[in-house]
Amino acid sequence: MPKAVSHARRRVLAAMALFSALPWVVVSDALADNLKPTPSQPEGPFYPRTLPEDRDADLLIVAGRSGRAEGTPLYLEGTVRSIAGTPLSGARIEIWQCDAHGRYHYVNDGGSAPPDENFQGYGETDTDADGRYKFRTIRPVAYTGRAPHIHLKAKHPDARPLTTQIYAAGDPLDADAGFMRFYGQESRDRLTVVLTPATDAEPGALRARFDIVLATER
Ligand SMILES: [Fe+2]
Repeated sequence: MPKAVSHARRRVLAAMALFSALPWVVVSDALADNLKPTPSQPEGPFYPRTLPEDRDADLLIVAGRSGRAEGTPLYLEGTVRSIAGTPLSGARIEIWQCDAHGRYHYVNDGGSAPPDENFQGYGETDTDADGRYKFRTIRPVAYTGRAPHIHLKAKHPDARPLTTQIYAAGDPLDADAGFMRFYGQESRDRLTVVLTPATDAEPGALRARFDIVLATER
C-alpha cells in the first residue's frame, strides 16, 4: 500500500472509530451528569412507636414546657434534589435522635439515665419551593456502641424513600467500626457533615449542611 493511501486510510478508520464511539460517549456523559442518590443506612430500633404531638422542626422546645433542651444547639439544613439536580419541593423530612443524656423518646430504648423531657426527640418538616429544609436540634451525642448520629427519613411522591443517618466530621467512628465496615469511604463522606459556628443565629450554636439526593427516574 502506498504511503499516502495508508495515511488516508488510517484517517478514515480513525474517523469511523470516533463516530462509532460517539453514542457511547454521549450516553456515559448523560449518566455521569446524574447525581448519585444519598447512601441509605438502617432505620435502627428507635424510630418513635407513636409520633409526639409537638413534632415541628424545632427540637429544642417542647410545646407546653418552659425549659429548653440540654446540649449544643445545631442548625441542620440542606436541600433535597432529584438525581437530575432538580430541587424537590414538598419532600417530607423526618429526623430523630437521642437526647443529651443518650435517651431516645417515644420508644423503649432500655436506657437508665433520666430522659431530658425538654428535648423533642423527633421532628418533621417539608421542603420549600426551592427544595430547602431546616431543623433546630442538638449536636448528636454518642450512646453505648454508637458514634454520635442523627437519623433521617426523606420522602417525595416522585422518589424512592430514603432512610439514613448523619455523622459529624471529627467524631471517631470507632464505636461503629463493626457497622461502618459495610460502607466505603465515599458513602461515609457523604453521610458526614462539617459543624461550623452559627453564632449569627445564637451564641454557642453550630450549623451543619446535609444535602440530600433522592433516587428518582431522572
Ligand atoms: Fe440511633
